[in-house]
Amino acid sequence: MAKGILQLKRVGGGMNKLILAIETSCDETSVAVVRDGEILSNVVFSQLDLHKAYGGVVPSIARVAHENKINEVLKEALEVANVALNQVTHIAVTQGPGLAIALEVGIRKAKELAAEYKLPLLGVNHMAGHLYSALDLKNADWEFPALGLLVSGGHTEILVLEDLYSIRKVGQTLDDACGEAFDKFATMLGLEYPGGPQISKLAGQSRSQLDIRLERDQQTLFVKGYAAGDEELKYQLPIPMANSGDLNMSYSGLKTAAKQLINELSGVSHKLDIKQTGRAEKLTEEQIGELCVMFEEAALRTLVLKLEAALKQFPAQELLLGGGVAASPRLRDLIAEFATKSQVRFHIAPDRALLTDNAGMIGLAATVALRQLEEQGKISENIAKLYNLNDFEQMDRMPGWDL
Ligand code: KG4
Ligand code: ZN
Repeated sequence: MAKGILQLKRVGGGMNKLILAIETSCDETSVAVVRDGEILSNVVFSQLDLHKAYGGVVPSIARVAHENKINEVLKEALEVANVALNQVTHIAVTQGPGLAIALEVGIRKAKELAAEYKLPLLGVNHMAGHLYSALDLKNADWEFPALGLLVSGGHTEILVLEDLYSIRKVGQTLDDACGEAFDKFATMLGLEYPGGPQISKLAGQSRSQLDIRLERDQQTLFVKGYAAGDEELKYQLPIPMANSGDLNMSYSGLKTAAKQLINELSGVSHKLDIKQTGRAEKLTEEQIGELCVMFEEAALRTLVLKLEAALKQFPAQELLLGGGVAASPRLRDLIAEFATKSQVRFHIAPDRALLTDNAGMIGLAATVALRQLEEQGKISENIAKLYNLNDFEQMDRMPGWDL
């Protein structure tokens, strides 16, 4: 019998797709069961506590933790969904981008299951997962083009969807990702890794202390923080790339400016090597809270400015927001305000657990890929790749995904 797609038990067609999805690209071990676009279970084991002491994710620790947890997470995902492995119709796994040795753990497990149960295997683009986390597959009433904004610890990018399956990256960060910049700034303030959620919380508590204005000094657009009810300017930070004229972002200038601000407020000479300073030991709690307001505002405003510019170039009706930083209430407020003003419909996952890394979003992207296969007989290269029993070995080679 010829080897290939037909040899597999069930492929694509019709409804009743029961996808088992696996995600191990970074520091979350996650397995989900997704039936026809509905998430039946989405179990996530976060390794955060294992990496905290190092101030970031350590790949070798991540790999061992994925290996130790994957079977338990798989079992729980099946139990919660009340599904047995022999009912599953497709296996999906994050194939990239991510930490190679962490990805391998999920890929190995996915191959093992697909071989044992003779199922088609989908290697899914992690960023397509973040994007489709915002998609309500039951509501087909969409207008294209649509804009996507993905903001995570590893990526910050603007995408254009010409249709449901054609995704193009039109802007991205030139250096740090937005979440990464939050985490680094948090470290300067002496906050624990990952700092994004803490900055968000402290900023929320301190926002009313400052009157925030966007003001331009010559060429630079600044976020300026005035004492509430007063005309006293307390702090200012530049909004990165406000005048770059393209859709790219950058966080290195903001990070340096934030470091200088911390040094000035701490009374540390900014003539010192900047890398060794930017520590918040001498700041008051009030100052730390207010600096969180300032940094958050500058880091997020650049995203809104870039979306505004993107909308001029690509007149979209829909806007999808995804990635871990979308858990930020301030970002959601700013994007919602922008969407109302610009008359675009704003979409975000209904559940916060779908924003940070999770297998549910990988199952959703796999669902979109299978729908495309059904409708068009192909899967867009930057969403997923379909592997059959005889080409599982090729799966180790990461496709050059550009999202
Ligand atoms: O998508 P994600 O879970 O992992 C990656 O694929 O990178 O995103 C994690 C990032 C971290 O940098 C974290 O600090 C940031 O998302 N993050 C936040 C918030 N919650 C998570 N950043 C700002 N405000 C938040 N509320
Ligand atoms: Zn991610």
